[in-house]
Amino acid sequence: MPRIVYLIAAARPNFMKVAPLWRALAARPGLQPVLIHTGQHYDRNMSDVFFEDLGLPQPDVHLGVGGGSHAQQTAGVMVKFEELCLKRRPDLVVVVGDVNATMATTVVAAKLHIPVAHVEAGLRSRDMSMPEEINRLMTDVVADLLFTPSADADGNLRREGVAEARIHRVGNIMIDTLVDKVEKARGNGAVQRHGLKPQGYGVVTLHRPSNVDDPQTLAAILAVLVAVDLPLIFPAHPRTRKVMLYNGLYDMTGLASSHLRIVDPLGYDEFMNLVIHSKLVLTDSGGLQEETTWLRIPCLTLRPNTERPITVEIGTNELATVASLPGQIARILAGGWKHGRVPELWDGATAPRIVGVIEGFLAGR
Ligand code: UD1
Repeated sequence: MPRIVYLIAAARPNFMKVAPLWRALAARPGLQPVLIHTGQHYDRNMSDVFFEDLGLPQPDVHLGVGGGSHAQQTAGVMVKFEELCLKRRPDLVVVVGDVNATMATTVVAAKLHIPVAHVEAGLRSRDMSMPEEINRLMTDVVADLLFTPSADADGNLRREGVAEARIHRVGNIMIDTLVDKVEKARGNGAVQRHGLKPQGYGVVTLHRPSNVDDPQTLAAILAVLVAVDLPLIFPAHPRTRKVMLYNGLYDMTGLASSHLRIVDPLGYDEFMNLVIHSKLVLTDSGGLQEETTWLRIPCLTLRPNTERPITVEIGTNELATVASLPGQIARILAGGWKHGRVPELWDGATAPRIVGVIEGFLAGR
């Protein structure tokens, strides 16, 4: 009998991490991956299009929890996931990243004495105002296997007293998908379809509560973007769109006549095509800090901290504030940006390394 592995996907950034894992698990005769979509992201352009672009099979199980407050999302996933585990008990639960379902499913499995593997363990922003930081800490306390992308993550876990045997540095799972898809994405043609010129524009993404939930903060960021002398394309997240819509920010002064173009969220291939050919990326996303480092594209992260310091230390990323943005953008346009290096083990082979450890772990149980 193959060992059953539940693989949890909830929100957009999870799909890029789950795809290579699903393939590597499905390739092993002794393992049977079961893909579970909790439903945190449900719009076609936040979910379905990624299954198509990434060649993921349809989820085996839809928990259908949907959006809501943090407590509603977390509790909803816990109730549905516990029912599922009681009906069909897996041998292992694999969670990725730091979204609410990562934490919710980990806690449920741990209390049912089902082992949990966390992929992207050990990242810390040390910013407890971020919901993701709470999810990371809670998940890493109880998960059995902690798969880390970089040495700083190992160090964070050691400082928290995690036993060495639980820590496995395997590299960056997001980069597996990028390595696999980069050539297809490079030829996608989105740059031309959007009327842009290669190297002649920047890509913007913003969705962190700290940047977009307060309309005044968001308006201040948009005012800087409107003044930038470079075409900018901004595929806006539903969270960001809602705040803009309900506060009249689409009508703000100068936006209509500016270089800033706000569009709907894009699929993986289309979005990565825009990133690959861009002059710079301005973001508050976690994954983009890593993808730009691998692609060696200048990245400005509009946050006071990052749980991915390696992208700043050796990659192409810099932290930014509203006040520092114009100077940083000018430096990029003047050609004065660092080239960066790709961190060790960000090589496209993280998923097979993870599956190797999982096989050893399950064999010992
Ligand atoms: C979540 C994750 C964040 C991740 C981000 C990527 C948590 C705590 N946060 O934040 O770590 O970086 O996803 O996208 O898990 N909505 C839609 N359609 C959708 C999805 C969401 O309209 O398909 C709406 C929701 O109803 C809600 C808002 O967008 O009003 C925010 O969604 P939510 O999942 O709560 O948080 P994100 O900001 O997406």
